[in-house]
Amino acid sequence: MLHVIILAGGIGKRMQSRFPKVLHQVAGRPMLNHVIDTARRLDPNRIVVVLGKQSKKVQDMLPCQKDLHFVLQKEQKGTGHALQQAVPLLQENSKENNLTLVLYGDVPFLQESTLRNLLISTEELSILTKIVMDPSGYGRIIRDEQGRLLKIVEQHEISAKQSNIKEVNTGILSASTLYLKRWVNSISNKNSQKEYYLTDVVNIAAAEGISISSVQVNTKWEAVGVNNHVQKAEVERYWQYEKANQLLTKGVTLLDPNRFDLRGTMHCGQDVSIDVGCIFEGKVILSDGAQIGPYCILKNSYIGKDVQVKAFCHLENVTILEDSDVGPYARLRPGTTLGKKTRIGNFVEIKNAVVDSETKVGHLTYLGDAHVGARVNIGAGTITCNYNGFQKNRTIIEDDAFIGSDTQLIAPVRVGQGSTVGAGTTLTRDVPEGKLTLTRVNPIVIDKWQGPKGK
Ligand code: UD1
Ligand code: CA
Repeated sequence: MLHVIILAGGIGKRMQSRFPKVLHQVAGRPMLNHVIDTARRLDPNRIVVVLGKQSKKVQDMLPCQKDLHFVLQKEQKGTGHALQQAVPLLQENSKENNLTLVLYGDVPFLQESTLRNLLISTEELSILTKIVMDPSGYGRIIRDEQGRLLKIVEQHEISAKQSNIKEVNTGILSASTLYLKRWVNSISNKNSQKEYYLTDVVNIAAAEGISISSVQVNTKWEAVGVNNHVQKAEVERYWQYEKANQLLTKGVTLLDPNRFDLRGTMHCGQDVSIDVGCIFEGKVILSDGAQIGPYCILKNSYIGKDVQVKAFCHLENVTILEDSDVGPYARLRPGTTLGKKTRIGNFVEIKNAVVDSETKVGHLTYLGDAHVGARVNIGAGTITCNYNGFQKNRTIIEDDAFIGSDTQLIAPVRVGQGSTVGAGTTLTRDVPEGKLTLTRVNPIVIDKWQGPKGK
């Protein structure tokens, strides 16, 4: 039987924020959500999350809670005290091998494989350590001459000699549930900070003669704990670089892996190319041959085969079918579907609209709540007037229609197949198929006109 306890009750003073530390985001999600995801991948029997101040705010941020047990740590008296609140929720079954894994809510990117290694190594107690160049802030691992683990000394309690020790505590440990309960309840706060240190579990176990095992992290970045914004930025970059490398290895071209941001999940086909400064959020699919220009934002979108998204486009909940191109500077809002070989140009905004294949929307246009057929040409400055102040109305433009520049389509309105709407028209009625419809004021010429004069 496996239990996971996640400590997320700390105030996070060093973040200098109004919000609890575990709500601060990395890779587009609160740190705690990442830790819960990792815990779930281990398929434990129970997950206990220790929350502190603003616990409701933290719970509200968790999309799925049905497998989580919460305990409240009313006062923040240290990691050992946090664990003391959680242990009454641990079940024991003496016939089985009962293990409890303790994770920290501010160590967001631990890998499942590392934790599995830790669990495999655990008899009574096993801790996860890492070697770092700069150990400041971390608890140091103290071993005897034979390399046996003796204790963990916290930063505040450290001697000058111990401060050079490069092996540090990641905070993550796994233990036999039965033993852990006993050790946790004998932690005291007799130290300089008057705090209950979880790390004292190691000292107590060692004093009992328990042999403590340790496992080192696989990669140096995965166990970085976030105490301040410098570490948050550091963790974010490591993670992004890791994701970028995974894509490069799969054959994706990234013009600069240091300028790539994934805040969700991404699937890329063959010969995909992504220029610098792009942000991908939610679930994004880039099909074979898709090219994403610099500084684009794509959220929850499907990009078809050989589609080109040019510089500075913003796409959200969008489907674009093959051989189309979009941008530069296009904004495609939720509910936009573009058919094959469509051309969407600069300063075009589209929302809740289907645009069928081979249609061109070249410049400065707003299409909202619309269905535009195939092979339609939409002139520059066309606007669907979809909102009358209290409700949204639809515009339908049928196949092969031609909409002249600077047309306003006052919805609800339908433009018939193969028809033409003259430039500058304010359309207030349906347009019949195959005909020309326009509103036009004849130009007036004023003779003997004298323009304003300067002094
Ligand atoms: C802790 C470890 C240190 C280790 C480091 C690794 C202790 C005493 N020290 O120090 O050895 O090197 O992590 O990142 O454990 N929390 C609570 N309640 C509290 C205090 C903290 O739930 O009263 C939670 C926090 O929300 C956080 C986690 O415990 O998620 C760690 O707390 P933090 O104060 O950041 O510990 P560190 O000083 O980083
Ligand atoms: Ca920490």
